[in-house]
Amino acid sequence: MANFDATTKERLAARLNYYRDMGIYDFYRRPVEAGAEPELSEQIEDAPPPAHDVSESSLPVIQDKSSALAAIREDIGDCTRCRLHKGRTNLVFGVGNVNADLMFVGEGPGADEDAQGEPFVGRAGQLLNNMISAMGLKREDVYIANVVKCRPPNNRTPEKDECDTCSPLLLRQIDVVQPNVIVALGAVAAKNLLAINDSMANLRGRWYDFRGAKLAVTYHPAYLLRDPRQKKEAWKDLQMVMKYLGLQAPARAAEE
Ligand code: URA
Repeated sequence: MANFDATTKERLAARLNYYRDMGIYDFYRRPVEAGAEPELSEQIEDAPPPAHDVSESSLPVIQDKSSALAAIREDIGDCTRCRLHKGRTNLVFGVGNVNADLMFVGEGPGADEDAQGEPFVGRAGQLLNNMISAMGLKREDVYIANVVKCRPPNNRTPEKDECDTCSPLLLRQIDVVQPNVIVALGAVAAKNLLAINDSMANLRGRWYDFRGAKLAVTYHPAYLLRDPRQKKEAWKDLQMVMKYLGLQAPARAAEE
């Protein structure tokens, strides 16, 4: 068995998860002549999807993104992977357009989200909706999810092991939706996705390459509710995203 470096393992795992979410479970490796085997990293980069007769009726073929997301939700099940399950009313999976160009990632559900099973439906959610409208989009146009899917007690920051347990599920959601742009809302989302421990001041204002998407960081709407002076800064972040996506602010937002 070959020894793969961590990056190769991560990319291989992501690719296998992607195929699994699409309902493809059987794989084989092409036989290669001894000494002629290419690097696995090249195979991952260059290989076409594994040869697989998707017309075989016995296979659970999932061809559309909604079904792929439903398969992830089913995999999550009545999750007890971390301690957060103990206090939850509803697991908050994610919501929105499965073909979205733009995805927002928050920290974790609060009380309203826990009660309703949908991300960003409380006061912070109202502000996020306003931010989305200011970009010339509707909430239904984007996809919204969180780093952790269950509400931390008293809305505390999710702990590292909770994020580490839950975020692979978010990564699978990202790999299915394949947005062009991901906006990390706040430091928890940014640090967990990017695995960078830095200040918001340093994290904002630039693009990151992330799983085939561009990722930008902005302030969490809950933080903007506490310190509305930072809304101007958040608007700069959103304008960077709008420019990349070719979005125009509606007349009123552009005037503000
Ligand atoms: N804050 C978050 O980070 N996510 C939500 O879904 C709601 C509030």
